Amino acid sequence: MSTLITNIGELVSHAGPDTDPGQYGPGPFWSVRDAALVIEDGRVAWTGPAAAAPAADQAVDCAGRTVLPGFVDSHAHLVFAGERSAEFAARMAGRPYQAGGIRSTVAATRSAPDAALRANLAALAGEMLSQGTTTLECKTGYGLTVTDEVRSAALAAEVTPEVTFLGAHVVPAEYTADPAGYLDLVCGPMLAVCAPHARWVDVFCEDGAFGADEATAVLAAGRSAGLIPRVHANQLGPGPGVQVAAAAGAASADHCTYLSDADVAALASSAVVATLLPGVEFATRQPYPDARRLLDAGVTVALATDCNPGSCFISSMPLCIALGVREMGLTTEEAVWAATAGGARALRRTDVGHLAPGARADLVLLDAPSHTYLAYRAGVPLVSAVWQAGRLAWQAGRKPVWQAGRKPA
Ligand code: NIG
Ligand code: FE
Repeated sequence: MSTLITNIGELVSHAGPDTDPGQYGPGPFWSVRDAALVIEDGRVAWTGPAAAAPAADQAVDCAGRTVLPGFVDSHAHLVFAGERSAEFAARMAGRPYQAGGIRSTVAATRSAPDAALRANLAALAGEMLSQGTTTLECKTGYGLTVTDEVRSAALAAEVTPEVTFLGAHVVPAEYTADPAGYLDLVCGPMLAVCAPHARWVDVFCEDGAFGADEATAVLAAGRSAGLIPRVHANQLGPGPGVQVAAAAGAASADHCTYLSDADVAALASSAVVATLLPGVEFATRQPYPDARRLLDAGVTVALATDCNPGSCFISSMPLCIALGVREMGLTTEEAVWAATAGGARALRRTDVGHLAPGARADLVLLDAPSHTYLAYRAGVPLVSAVWQAGRLAWQAGRKPVWQAGRKPA
C-alpha cells in the first residue's frame, strides 16, 4: 500500500542536493515548496515537485500546508508517579531550582503499582505524539533501587527502543551516609539487570549529584555492559560534565547551560551533540543556554524537552522550538533542524529526523504555510496530523467552531 502526500506548501526534508544519497543521514536544513512525498512500506519512497508526483494507492491533499520530519525528543524522564506543581509555584515565587524534589518523585514512583506508571507513561507518550514527536528517549532514574530501576527500564522499553539507564540520577535518601555504596550498587547489580532493557547510560554530573570521577565510573561501567554514554552536564552551574562527556565519547551532553570556553571547544572538537532543553530554563527561571555561541563554534545542537515532573513538565517540541528561536539565538531553520535531525544525531539514528527516500516515514502535518509558524505562532496547536512509520498515528479532530453570541441556557 503506497500513500501520496501531495500539495505540500513547504516540505522540510533536510534532504537537499548536499545530502549523500548513499547515506540518507540527516543533512543540513533543507526545504522545498509545492512538493509531494510518497510513503511505501513505512518508509519515504519518493520526494519531489507535486507536479511530478507518481501515482499511489491513496492520496492525502495537504492544501498548501507544511510537512516536517517527526520531532525527535532525545531527552525525557517519563517513568514516574506524582507531580510537583507546588515546587514549580514556589520557584515562580522566587525560590531557586535545586533538584532536591527528585527524591519526592522517587518516593511516589517506588510506591506506585506498575499499572499506574504504565498509564502515566502512555498518556505522556500520546501527548507527545499529538504534538509531533515520533521518536522519544526515556530515562529511568526515579526508582533508584535495583527492583524499581529494572521495572522502570522495562516499562520504558514498552514505548521506545531509546531507553536510558539513569540509576545515577541522585543518591537516594537511604544511601545519604554511604554514597560510595550507592555508586557500587549502580555500577554493579543495578546496571546488570537494567542493561538488557536499555541502549544508553546517563549520569547527573552536578554539585549535589555526582562528581567527575563518579560520573566517569558510571559511564565506563555502562560501556562495559554495552550501553552508550550520555550526560546531564552543566545544568545548574559550571562543572566538569561536558568534559566528562567528551572524554567518555558520549553521544550527547545535555543541558549545557553554564559552559566555559574550554567546554565549548571540547564539544566542537568531538562528536558530542549539545542537547539544549529550553523548557527547563523556562520552568526554573534560569538563564537560557547560548545556542548561537555553540553553533558559531561548530557544535552540533539538538533541542529536546527534558519532560519530567520537576524541572520541566513540558512535553511540547513546538514550544522548545519557539523558545530556541526567541530566547537562545536560533534561526527558525536551525531550531527546526535541532528538533528533528539534531535529536536524531543525539540518538545516533540515521533513519529518523529527515525525510530523504529511505527514511522512516515519520511526518508532521502542520496547519501552517511554513515551518516559521512554529515560532511565529508560539503556543498555538498547529500540528494537525502525525504519521509514524507510515501509519497515520494521530489526527486533530474537526476544527471547533466558536459559537458567537450563544446565550447561556
Ligand atoms: O534533567 N537534572 C536532573 N534531572 C532532571 C530533573 C529531574 C527532577 O527535577 O525531577 C533534569 O532536569
Ligand atoms: Fe533530564
